[in-house]
Amino acid sequence: MRWREMLSRISWRLVLTLLIGAVIGAGAVIASVQIDHHTATTEFCSTTCHSMTSKVTDPHYLQSKHISNPQGVHPSCGDCHIPQNNWFVETYTHVSSGIRDAIAEMTTDFKDQKAWDARRVELAKEVRDDMRAQDNVTCKHCHTVSSIKPSSPAGQAVHTALPAGVACVDCHQNLVHTPPPTPQAAK
Ligand code: HEC
Ligand code: HEC
Ligand code: HEC
Repeated sequence: MRWREMLSRISWRLVLTLLIGAVIGAGAVIASVQIDHHTATTEFCSTTCHSMTSKVTDPHYLQSKHISNPQGVHPSCGDCHIPQNNWFVETYTHVSSGIRDAIAEMTTDFKDQKAWDARRVELAKEVRDDMRAQDNVTCKHCHTVSSIKPSSPAGQAVHTALPAGVACVDCHQNLVHTPPPTPQAAK
């Protein structure tokens, strides 16, 4: 076989392989985007794990301004908990926290209120740490920091010059969830 033929054969195979790879890759990305969206809904979170069911019936949650406001804006669990600005971070957060939650759910009986309360204290800290690390990107998806004009003088004083390096969740804790029984342990 002449070298020219050989080269063209190899390059055709290469092009074909790359094409198939691209199609499979794109399919995987589209599928994961769908899965990302589906698993971030309040519906999914509250029916998959027993321990999350209590989150949607929590009176503190139902009365919070995020869930009960005249504007009809209702962030889903994922709107606050899963960064959606970056596909990699979004998918990674889903997979890692999904596996972690599933293992916790299988190894601990969260119908035992004490076990769940203790876990909540740990989780609250983890969630806040994640939100700090991600620069509160989920909050900022809806809230434009410079446009926040609190109604109270105290809030205005703070928000006109937010201290650098302070996260929303450093000041706004227990926004939508009833504080765990020992909140002082969770900073
Ligand atoms: C899907 C959009 C959305 C997301 C995500 C969101 N918020 Fe809000 N938030 C709102 C809306 C809308 C209101 C106004 C509700 C009202 O007062 O009518 C609000 C109100 C608030 C308030 C004032 C009411 C209160 O409960 O004190 C604070 C503080 C706040 N948000 C902080 C946050 C923080 C911190 C995060 C991230 C953990 C966040 N928000 C995520 C839409 C959102
Ligand atoms: C250093 C503390 C601090 C930080 C950091 C902070 N806030 Fe606030 N924020 C306050 C205080 C205090 C108020 C007034 C609360 C009140 O009057 O009940 C307030 C009020 C608000 C309000 C308006 C509530 C209303 O209806 O008047 C919103 C919305 C809000 N913050 C969102 C955010 C978001 C989003 C972030 C992160 C980008 C953030 N805050 C960071 C302290 C802080
Ligand atoms: C407005 C934003 C927001 C929404 C909506 C939201 N969360 Fe949270 N969540 C937080 C923040 C902030 C924390 C960190 C702890 C705290 O300050 O409440 C947290 C903590 C948690 C924790 C650990 C601590 C605890 O209270 O048990 C769990 C579990 C949790 N959220 C599940 C959910 C589920 C399930 C939903 C939907 C039904 C949901 N969250 C909706 C903001 C939100």
